[in-house]
Parts: sequence; structure tokens; C-alpha cells
Amino acid sequence: MRSWGRVAKRTRLVAFGLLTAVPLALTHTPVVDGVVAAENITDTASLFAFETVQLTDRVIANLSSHQLSDISLFSFRINASSAAKKRQSRKCKTYPGDAGWPSERIWKLFDALLGGALIKTVPDAAVCYRDWSVFDALQCQTLTDNWGNSSVRIEDPTAIRSILYQGMTCMPPNMTASFLGNGPNCTVGGFPEYTVKATNVAQIQLAVNFARELDLRLIIKNTGHDFGGKSVGKGALSIWTHHLKDAIFYERYTTGSYSGPAFKFGAGIQVFEANKLAKEYGVSVVGGEGKTVGHVGGYTQGGGHSPLTSLWGMAADQVLSLEIVTADGRFITADSEANPDIFWAVRGGGGSTYGVVTSMVVKAHPKIKVTTMRYNITTDANFTHDKFWAAQRAYIDNFAQYADLGYYSYFRIRHSGDEIFHDMTSWVAPNTSEVEFRTNLAPLFKKWAALGVPFRPIIREYDNYHDAWADGFPQEPWLVTMRQASRFFPRENLVDEEKKNATVDAIRGVFDEGASLIMFNIRNPPDSDKIDNAVNPAWRKVLMFAIMFTTWNTTSSQEVATNLSRKLTFEWNPRWIELTPGSGTYMSESDYIEPNWQQSFYGSNYARLYRLKQEWDPDGVFYAQNAVGMEDWEMSEMILGHLPSQNSKLCRK
Ligand SMILES: Cc1cc2nc3c(=O)[nH]c(=O)nc-3n(C[C@H](O)[C@H](O)[C@H](O)COP(=O)(O)OP(=O)(O)OC[C@H]3O[C@@H](n4cnc5c(N)ncnc54)[C@H](O)[C@@H]3O)c2cc1C
Ligand SMILES: *[C@@H]1O[C@H](CO)[C@@H](O)[C@H](O)[C@H]1NC(C)=O
Ligand SMILES: *[C@@H]1O[C@H](CO)[C@@H](O)[C@H](O)[C@H]1NC(C)=O
Ligand SMILES: *[C@@H]1O[C@H](CO)[C@@H](O)[C@H](O)[C@H]1NC(C)=O
Ligand SMILES: *[C@@H]1O[C@H](CO)[C@@H](O)[C@H](O)[C@H]1NC(C)=O
Ligand SMILES: *[C@@H]1O[C@H](CO)[C@@H](O)[C@H](O)[C@H]1NC(C)=O
Ligand SMILES: *[C@@H]1O[C@H](CO)[C@@H](O)[C@H](O)[C@H]1NC(C)=O
Ligand SMILES: *[C@@H]1O[C@H](CO)[C@@H](O)[C@H](O)[C@H]1NC(C)=O
Ligand SMILES: *[C@@H]1O[C@H](CO)[C@@H](O)[C@H](O)[C@H]1NC(C)=O
Ligand SMILES: *[C@@H]1O[C@H](CO)[C@@H](O)[C@H](O)[C@H]1NC(C)=O
Ligand SMILES: *[C@@H]1O[C@H](CO)[C@@H](O)[C@H](O)[C@H]1NC(C)=O
Ligand SMILES: *[C@@H]1O[C@H](CO)[C@@H](O)[C@H](O)[C@H]1NC(C)=O
Ligand SMILES: *[C@@H]1O[C@H](CO)[C@@H](O)[C@H](O)[C@H]1NC(C)=O
Repeated sequence: MRSWGRVAKRTRLVAFGLLTAVPLALTHTPVVDGVVAAENITDTASLFAFETVQLTDRVIANLSSHQLSDISLFSFRINASSAAKKRQSRKCKTYPGDAGWPSERIWKLFDALLGGALIKTVPDAAVCYRDWSVFDALQCQTLTDNWGNSSVRIEDPTAIRSILYQGMTCMPPNMTASFLGNGPNCTVGGFPEYTVKATNVAQIQLAVNFARELDLRLIIKNTGHDFGGKSVGKGALSIWTHHLKDAIFYERYTTGSYSGPAFKFGAGIQVFEANKLAKEYGVSVVGGEGKTVGHVGGYTQGGGHSPLTSLWGMAADQVLSLEIVTADGRFITADSEANPDIFWAVRGGGGSTYGVVTSMVVKAHPKIKVTTMRYNITTDANFTHDKFWAAQRAYIDNFAQYADLGYYSYFRIRHSGDEIFHDMTSWVAPNTSEVEFRTNLAPLFKKWAALGVPFRPIIREYDNYHDAWADGFPQEPWLVTMRQASRFFPRENLVDEEKKNATVDAIRGVFDEGASLIMFNIRNPPDSDKIDNAVNPAWRKVLMFAIMFTTWNTTSSQEVATNLSRKLTFEWNPRWIELTPGSGTYMSESDYIEPNWQQSFYGSNYARLYRLKQEWDPDGVFYAQNAVGMEDWEMSEMILGHLPSQNSKLCRK
């Protein structure tokens, strides 16, 4: 059950007055470089300045007492019997053109209450189109050149990576898929109508209340990295968390059985910022490999794997406490004592489900030395495909040994004409010297020498994780025309000889039929299955996480794309599923239309997660493809005939 104790204890509420109309001017600690000095906290983390600016009952009462009409649209959820019942009889969310859609006057009032933080959507590629007032040929060229550069795209309020599921309604002209739309064109389409650029908690509460009371589709966008397009949606109101960049380091943070160093990160902190701070403070944090991925958003909430996972576990396992605005509009703390259900669910149960997380306190680990190895291997007339796969087999034979040493490797196998191009993006050996690493890999190197593997590795020892990670993981591009599926291969698939043969055959099988591969040798540390959070239990058994993907290009016909997409879901993915009964896969790197997704992404946690979803979000304020509770909703249109289009109405089933 929810508890309000922590909320009541907060005495530093900075409620804003209505009459100023720009109530929320806020000074908060700047990003990364401005991080505040350490302090020792033994109970709960203090709030960031941006978290002390809250919407409270007193503020609502004040607004009401000024006789402002429509203030009820911004009030907290009172009870389920009146408004909620009316909402539940509606089929679809409220869309422009519907009677319940807010008038211009109401949007203006909302913007005033927000202190001017409301942004009406102009898709970033609108600069390429003459019918948009922002048209600018030079800017269009710059954007086109940077279309795959997440550092640039993330700064836009609505841009996302997986724009296929948005419907590709506004692309740079030369990247517009010939099969979608009537040639180059730019509409808002599946992008949200409005974005709240959040710089304090009150704005988030106002947006949640407003969306709930009007039954608007609500989305949360952090970086827009999600592969399933979970941060986009037609006709939606979006809460943009990217600018919540505060961070603080605690030398000693004590909660439950943990007492040690920790960071409190604002919702907008990205992987590169988390790692940079960790280096500055002489510690390490468990974060993703992708530089610009959001650390606190979809990454940690979805579980979050890391080059340090084989040693220290999942990102969600590191969370000690979090602050969240729930669907009723309230701002609460969730940790092992306060609101433990929410604390359990948000650690692995997925983003955009129970609320808007504004910050998390996460464990920091000691500084460690790290050795990495990188190499490329290409087949040729002498080093044939069969030899390549024999070499892969020799490597995979040792997966248990490597992962149990705490190692992680991330590698790709792709087509280069008729040849195979294999790049070990980074093999990461935490807490390991170069000498130890070479000793442990000597047997593999010997086998590979006998097979004639054309292999010139770069092996390097670093005295801290940040530097190893920064060199090891170049920023990856935002691709457009692709689909992917994935699977966890548990330990039993990689120790039993027969299963191992079948596994390697299945991996090679889809590759030979045209798929490309991204693979991880990774484990969860012993005893991590005893951690009581919502991380997919299948993660605890994994030894190999494999992703297959298929790409096409802007000139491919719709039929080509449709066939590839169907092949991925209905031919290739089922083969991997059949080999790994009862296992699952990672919600954040998976098929958009994974069959039996509740079991695959959440395993035995699903029933409890679903029950908590009903308890904490009975009105269905939060929704995303593949998020808990999705089965109660449907999109009204499909892309390629089988992919729910975020550029269509979201309706109750
Ligand atoms: C290049 C690249 C590298 C990657 N590397 C890794 C990796 O090493 N390890 C790994 O585990 N994953 C990795 N991922 C996958 C990544 O974890 C997911 O894409 C994740 O969803 C990104 O979260 P985000 O907040 O950055 O993105 P968004 O697309 O902005 O958000 C993702 C989801 O989280 C929700 N959300 C965001 N912020 C909040 C919030 N504050 N409160 C509640 N919900 C929120 C959104 O609504 C959406 O549903 C990678 C992805 C890419 C594209
Ligand atoms: C925090 O606690 C540690 C150990 O108890 C102590 O060494 C350190 O000085 C304290 N730091 C602050 C800022 O009080
Ligand atoms: C309520 O409004 C009055 C002025 O109208 C202001 O002084 C007071 O601070 C406000 N209180 C809250 C909680 O907003
Ligand atoms: C809850 O809704 C019922 C039915 O509309 C109403 O009678 C009751 O007063 C409401 N309770 C509160 C606290 O508003
Ligand atoms: C589109 O233009 C950009 C920049 O000029 C270029 O890099 C890219 O290759 C072009 N794409 C296609 C499909 O022509
Ligand atoms: C991506 O954009 C950033 C920020 O503008 C820039 O520093 C970086 O060089 C760009 N990367 C590529 C590959 O163009
Ligand atoms: C762009 O799309 C709109 C809406 O679908 C349509 O009316 C218009 O004809 C399109 N323009 C072009 C140039 O295709
Ligand atoms: C692997 O190949 C890529 C692309 O050709 C190149 O950029 C990279 O430097 C190579 N890495 C190694 C370790 O040789
Ligand atoms: C294959 O091996 C032969 C004999 O060693 C050598 O002459 C030839 O150059 C090699 N071919 C390639 C593509 O490496
Ligand atoms: C790192 O290695 C040292 C010995 O080399 C060991 O004492 C320490 O426990 C290791 N740390 C972790 C987190 O495994
Ligand atoms: C596994 O494959 C190897 C190599 O193809 C073969 O020699 C071995 O007999 C197979 N083992 C089983 C149990 O099928
Ligand atoms: C685009 O894909 C089609 C097949 O769908 C292929 O025939 C064509 O060569 C590809 N073009 C480029 C530039 O890769
Ligand atoms: C697509 O798949 C259908 C049904 O399998 C097949 O008849 C058709 O030839 C395929 N088209 C292409 C372009 O591959």
C-alpha cells in the first residue's frame, strides 16, 4: 500500500503562487561540472532543488480560491467513482477534434501554470519543408548530415530513434522511405502535440493531472533512444525529462543493508555523464555501453545491462531509492520502507508504467582497473565461413568461464557482401590486469592460431572504468530502416554439448538467411536471483544475450520491408524461442511485436506487476508498447500490416 509518511515529512515545499503567472522560475544546480559537494546521509536522500518545487493541495486550494475556472483539470485524483468511471466508458484517448480536446484557452492556462514550459510540436525535419514556417535549406542539410547523430537529435523535444513506429511522418526528404506516405512530406503525425519541458516537479504533476483528467495520451520522453518507439505517440502530451540534470555524490549513504558510496541522479542524466562523475569521485557506476542513453529513464527502469553487469549486476539492482510522480499526481519517495511496491516494480518493470521518475539514488562501487580487447575479423578465400564459425564455437565454448570471471563482451557479426565482418566492439574485463587477461585467454588464442584466425587484437589496461568504456564504445548511430528481435540463452544452452550445438546452429542459421547479429557474453552475479526487484528473472540465468536484426533502405519497396519484418517475427525469432523454453528476452532490445511478451519480458513477475499497475494507475494514464498493461489497449492502425502504429489512436479494448 502507498504510504504518505515521507511526503509529509518534507518541509521544504516551495509551492508557487498563481498571481505571478510565471511561478516556476527555478535555480537548480547545473549539470555534471557544477556537482555539489559530498554529504553523508543516513536515512533518505535530500531532494534536489527542482524536486522541492511541488504542486500541493495548498496550491490547488489557492488556485481554486482565485475563482479560476477549469482548475479541476489540474487537481489530484480524488476518487475513482465519478470522473474515472466516465473515462473508463470512453473507448479511445481524447484526440484533436474530439469534444473533450482542450481549447486554445485551456492550453494557454496550462502553459501559464507551467511557467511557459509548454512547447507545440514542430518536428525537427520540418526545416526541410516549405509549408512549415521554419523552412531553412541550410538547416535541413545540417540535420540530414546529422540524422544518425544522437547527440544532435536528443536535443529536440520530440525526435526519437525508432521513427519507423512513429510512421516516419517527417523525415529529411532524401531519407523518406518510398513506401510510406506520398513522397516527401512533413506532418506532426505520430509525434505528440505538445511537450512540457520539465525543469521542476510541479510541472510534471500538472501535466500528469491534466492528462489524466482529460484522458489525453501521455508520454514520457527522456532521450528518445528506445528501440520500440516508447517515447512517442499521436495526439499526446509529452513530459520531457532531458533537462533534469542534477547530480550529487554521497560518500556514505545508508539504507537497509547498504552503507556505502552512492549517487543521486536526476532523470535527465545520461550514461556519459554518470561515468564522468564516477571518475571524478573515484568510483564506478553500473551503466550502459551507449554514451547518450538515459541512465535513469528507460535504461535502469527496464533492467539495464552494463559492461559491469557480470561483476556487479543489473542497473536496476543498484537502485537504493527513487522519487516519482505517480498517476494520481502525487510526488512520493519509494525505497525499501516507503512505498516498497513501487520501489519493487520500477526496478525492472519498465519505463512509462507507474509514474515519472524524477531521480534515483544508485550504488557507487570502488574504482577498479579494467582491461579491454577489441578486434575485427573478416572472412576471405582462406578463412572461410566454416572456419569463422568454428572459431566462434571455440569462443562460445568458454562463455561460462569468461562470464564467471566477471567479463562481458559485446560483438557483432554482419554481412559484408558475401563475407562475414565480425567486430569485437569491446571485450571488457573489470578488475583485471592485462597480464591476468592474457593468461585467461591464452587457450583461446592458441585454438584460434591453429584455425588461422586473421586476428590482430588491441588489448589495453586502464586504471579506471570510465576511460576503458570511453575508448571501447564509440557512439552508435540512430538507424531508421531496421527491425530487431532477441533472446536470452541461459547457461544450460551453453554447457550441454547437444544444446550448445543447436544454439550455435540457430545463431548461424538466421545469419546465413540474411540476419545480422549483435551478441553479448554476460551473466548476472551469483545470488542476484535473490534480489527482490522486478528485473526479468530470465536475466539471472543468462550467459549469452543475442539480438538479430534486419535492415532495408529508403528505396526498398514496401513488399521487401514487409517480408523482412514478417520473417524476423514469424520465422527467425520462433526458432530461438523454441531452443530456450521458459527463458525470455530484454524488453528494451527486443522485437516490437514479441509473441507472448508478458512472459518474455517480465517472466513470473508479470502477475504482480499487472496487479500493481491496476492499483497505482487505474485510469491508464501511462501506456507504452510492451509496457505492463498494454494488453488492455490497442492502436487503431498498423505499419507494414502488422506493426501497431504510434501514428494512430490509442483505444481501450
Ligand atoms: C545506442 C544504444 C545503446 C544502448 N545500450 C544499452 C546498454 O548498454 N544496456 C542496456 O541495457 N540498454 C541499452 N540500450 C537500450 C536502452 O536501455 C533503451 O533504449 C532505453 O529505453 C533508453 O531509455 P531512455 O530513457 O534513454 O530513452 P527514451 O526513449 O526517452 O525512454 C524509454 C522509455 O522509458 C520511459 N521513460 C524515460 N524516462 C522516464 C522517467 N523518468 N520515468 C518514467 N519513464 C521514463 C519512456 O517513456 C519510454 O517508455 C541502448 C540503446 C541504444 C539506442
Ligand atoms: C562521511 O563519512 C565518512 C566516514 O564516516 C567520513 O570519513 C567523511 O569525512 C564524512 N564526510 C562528510 C562530508 O561529512
Ligand atoms: C496562496 O496565495 C497567496 C497569495 O494569493 C500566497 O501568499 C501564498 O503563498 C499562496 N500559497 C500557496 C501554498 O501557494
Ligand atoms: C467521490 O465520488 C462520489 C460520486 O461522484 C462523490 O459522491 C464523493 O463525494 C466523491 N468523494 C470525494 C472525496 O470527492
Ligand atoms: C541524404 O543526404 C545526406 C547528406 O547529404 C547523405 O549523407 C545521405 O547519404 C543521403 N541519403 C540518401 C539515401 O541518399
Ligand atoms: C555528433 O554531434 C556532436 C554534437 O554536435 C558532434 O560533436 C559530433 O562530432 C557529431 N558526431 C558525428 C559522428 O558526426
Ligand atoms: C502531405 O500529406 C498531406 C496529409 O496526408 C496530404 O494532404 C498532402 O497531399 C501531402 N503532400 C504531398 C506533397 O505529398
Ligand atoms: C574495426 O573496423 C572498424 C571499421 O572498419 C574500424 O573503424 C576499427 O578501427 C577496427 N577496429 C580494430 C580494433 O581494428
Ligand atoms: C590465402 O593463402 C594463400 C597461401 O598462404 C595466400 O597466398 C593468399 O594470399 C591468401 N589469400 C588471402 C585472400 O588472404
Ligand atoms: C577485485 O580483485 C581483488 C583482487 O585482485 C579482490 O580482492 C576484489 O575483491 C575484487 N573486487 C571485486 C568487486 O570483485
Ligand atoms: C556437436 O557438434 C560437433 C561439431 O559439429 C560434433 O562433433 C559433436 O558430435 C556434436 N555433439 C553432439 C552431442 O551432438
Ligand atoms: C536497397 O535495398 C534494395 C533491396 O531492398 C537493394 O536492392 C539495393 O541495392 C539497396 N540499395 C542500397 C544503396 O543499399
Ligand atoms: C514476399 O513474400 C511473399 C510471400 O511469401 C512472396 O510471394 C513474395 O515474392 C515476396 N516478395 C519479395 C519482394 O521478396
